[in-house]
Amino acid sequence: MAASELLIRPARPADAQVLGDLYTQHLYASHLAKLGPRFVRALLTRLLNVPTVYGLVAEDEQVRGFIVAAALGAFSPTGLALSTTVGSAWFRALWRRPGPTLRSLELLLPRREARPQGAGVELLFIALEPRYRAAGLGQRLTAELLGHFQSEGTRWFEVSTQADNLAVHALLQAFGFRVVRDYRLFGRTMWRWRKLVG
Ligand SMILES: CC(C)(COP(=O)(O)OP(=O)(O)OC[C@H]1O[C@@H](n2cnc3c(N)ncnc32)[C@H](O)[C@@H]1OP(=O)(O)O)[C@@H](O)C(=O)NCCC(=O)NCCS
Repeated sequence: MAASELLIRPARPADAQVLGDLYTQHLYASHLAKLGPRFVRALLTRLLNVPTVYGLVAEDEQVRGFIVAAALGAFSPTGLALSTTVGSAWFRALWRRPGPTLRSLELLLPRREARPQGAGVELLFIALEPRYRAAGLGQRLTAELLGHFQSEGTRWFEVSTQADNLAVHALLQAFGFRVVRDYRLFGRTMWRWRKLVG
């Protein structure tokens, strides 16, 4: 089925296994994917059970892409890591892939940075199967996700990307995101993006 014909619906906790596999199979460049499918599945299971986390999936007979975001305040990397399921998945990943797993601790270090006023949302995941990319599906998922949070009063959105990810940069720019700073993570340059509502 063409990307434009895929059905978009809210993600459910039961989707976490499929989404984790899709993410790790098709996103080798991602820091999280290097921790392995078991870790990503545990993280998504935890996230999709948090009421203020919202996600969408695009599917025909199977899921072809998804997007997930969290209202800030609800989402704390340290809190997630301390949860039993994510914590034990992290220790298993440490055994299998010690290098990237240890470096993932960088994700937990709190960053001191000024936040805009009002309620904010962190975009956490967006990933499509390769053959459904560059056909407007990323835009459809993003538009619907931003619309959901804006209808709930969100004043700003933020997201981090790797500095060489041209596709996601074009997508974010099309929605009015701007780069607010850069930083290093796992030895790579990252860009921090922000979109203010209104
Ligand atoms: C990033 C991603 C979600 C974008 O979704 P998409 O459906 O491919 O993008 P769209 O077709 O909706 O296009 C959005 C914009 O990006 C541009 N774009 C798409 N693919 C591109 C590419 N490979 N290089 C440069 N620009 C690209 C489009 O031209 C469009 O820009 P425009 O509005 O100026 O015309 C998708 O490519 C993907 O899953 N990539 C792998 C996962 C990933 O990198 N996730 C982000 C991690 S932070």
